[in-house]
Amino acid sequence: MDLIDPFGRTIRDLRISVTDRCNFRCTYCMPEEGMKWVPRSEVLTFEEIERLARLFVERFQVDGLRLTGGEPTMRAHLPVLVHKLAALGVDLSMTTNGSTLRHMAHELRDAGLQRLNISLDTLVREKFLQMTKRDELERVLDGIEAAKEAGFGPVKINAVVERGVNDDEIVALARFGRDHDVEMRFIEFMPLDATGHWLNDKVVGQDEIVAALSAEFPMELVPARGAAPADRWRYLDGRGMVGVIPTVTKPFCDDCDRVRLTADGQFRTCLFATTEFDLLKLMRAGATDDQVAAEIQRAVGTKWAGHQINQVTFVRPRRSMSQIGG
Ligand code: GTP
Ligand code: 5AD
Ligand code: SF4
Repeated sequence: MDLIDPFGRTIRDLRISVTDRCNFRCTYCMPEEGMKWVPRSEVLTFEEIERLARLFVERFQVDGLRLTGGEPTMRAHLPVLVHKLAALGVDLSMTTNGSTLRHMAHELRDAGLQRLNISLDTLVREKFLQMTKRDELERVLDGIEAAKEAGFGPVKINAVVERGVNDDEIVALARFGRDHDVEMRFIEFMPLDATGHWLNDKVVGQDEIVAALSAEFPMELVPARGAAPADRWRYLDGRGMVGVIPTVTKPFCDDCDRVRLTADGQFRTCLFATTEFDLLKLMRAGATDDQVAAEIQRAVGTKWAGHQINQVTFVRPRRSMSQIGG
């Protein structure tokens, strides 16, 4: 049975945050004063995650699972979970900051992880330190190599573009993608930093990003995005693809097919949702699969048309991106 929301959109993609912890402190993702981590006892166990994932896949025909965080590799024994989820036989991917991939990429691949997206916002060491509060640019660059060596492909690289911070590196980052055979994707900065240093002025829009790129590299738009958030361009010289995720200036909510599960077992039907559905509590109170499925359907019945970042009625989510899951 399909999970269909009030606007007729069919849910196909479940993003699962496996931990709210992160070894980085990206300024666009976390409050400046740091985070209070969810206590271990309130985090979904692997068995609980597997139970929910199975329900989504087998009952509701979800065909993609993505592991997120926080930083997903901060969760102990992550390959054990990957192995369990891989058995469900659907597309299984992960979004990571890349810093631990040198020692984890092979194991994750062997456990059945199919695709990796890695965050990299700058190629300048001091700026990396400023943006993530960690001096680990070299480790991330090495992590990207490790991901390729482990056989992940295509490896996609996410860069959140913030005006006055890294917008001068758009061409350099694109060149990095071309030279290293990875797909660079530029993301418009969204108001998900909880403390709110987000300002509309800090958003560098898709049109501006594409203008900077195409002045340097001739490229053509690849039609049909479907439900994926990235618009993609092909370099005319055959050196791969580049993407732009226009979250703010051209929201893709009309085609949204995704829902999320936070590390503490809250089900969210939108990145920007202000309501959560407590599946952890429900499961721990002894709910049957039918009861959990009914709650999921009830939640999807409240999915809204889309975020309203550009409108005065917009309400920032209480939790930051790192807690919601990227
Ligand atoms: P694939 O295209 O399947 O590789 O994955 P993805 O691009 O959906 O996943 P990834 O985790 O790499 O997400 C890239 C960026 O897209 C995130 O960092 C967000 O900025 C944005 N994004 C992901 N999901 C949503 C969503 O539900 N709503 C909005 N507005 N933006 C999202
Ligand atoms: N706006 C856009 N993207 C964000 N990410 C984190 N915070 C934001 C934000 N405020 C991205 C990261 C990573 C994924 C986990 O989410 O860069 O790619
Ligand atoms: Fe951690 Fe990713 Fe958030 Fe950076 S963007 S603080 S790496 S969860």
